[in-house]
Amino acid sequence: AALAAPIGDLTGVKVLITAGPTTTPIDAVRYITNHSTGRMGAAMAEEALRRGAEVRYVLGVDKGVVRPVPPDRTQARMTLVEVRTAEQMAEAALKFLPEVDGVIATAAVMDYRVASPASGKVKRASEPVTLDMLPSIDVLGTLKAAANGQWFLGFAAETDDVEANGRGKLDKKGLDFLFANPVARAGEASDTGFSVPTNGGVLLRREGTPLALPVMSKAELARRLWTAIA
Ligand code: CTP
Ligand code: CA
Repeated sequence: AALAAPIGDLTGVKVLITAGPTTTPIDAVRYITNHSTGRMGAAMAEEALRRGAEVRYVLGVDKGVVRPVPPDRTQARMTLVEVRTAEQMAEAALKFLPEVDGVIATAAVMDYRVASPASGKVKRASEPVTLDMLPSIDVLGTLKAAANGQWFLGFAAETDDVEANGRGKLDKKGLDFLFANPVARAGEASDTGFSVPTNGGVLLRREGTPLALPVMSKAELARRLWTAIA
């Protein structure tokens, strides 16, 4: 087994972490989101704090989302901003970008937003309805475009061809690292990806060979990922 990294090896490092789901409102009382709980982001933040880093944490909130639980002594090194939409996430993250050394994008950002959310409550009717949606903002792409030497670690959950899709994303998005993991097809169970305390997959690097990381707790995976990118 790998030796535990010494506490404090990330002292002086400042990292921006996006986490959790984003949501897109339909009307005053309804919204669309995805299965993200924020667990992977919380694990990356907790490990960063444990090793001495400063964390700027932009969290998409929804019912039951998991927040990092920094030990009291590290609270001062953690700044948390809660958002709902992809657009709010991009705005909050952009504000932190100039002060950080790197970006970890664990957030499951909604790729589409409802074009014209109703300000009131839409009433029930028996006719079929159609919801017009538009592409939402690319949070990571927006940060990349504004970057000034920061490194980037992205995450990708894939149902098919995990490593090939992951490699394509790493190249296309111009990232330094991308962790790609299989995620269950609709209706199936899985020990990787959304809503479970474990994860496993492959860390792809712009330079260097892929690092296979078998299924383990998200806390342990966060340790291994931080050690690999540190
Ligand atoms: N991401 C983001 N903003 C978006 C979409 C994705 O910041 N609007 C980030 C995620 O946080 C993740 C990375 O980009 O770190 C890859 O997300 P993913 O959804 O896998 O990429 P997409 O290009 O949206 O591909 P797909 O069509 O498979 O959803
Ligand atoms: Ca996406």
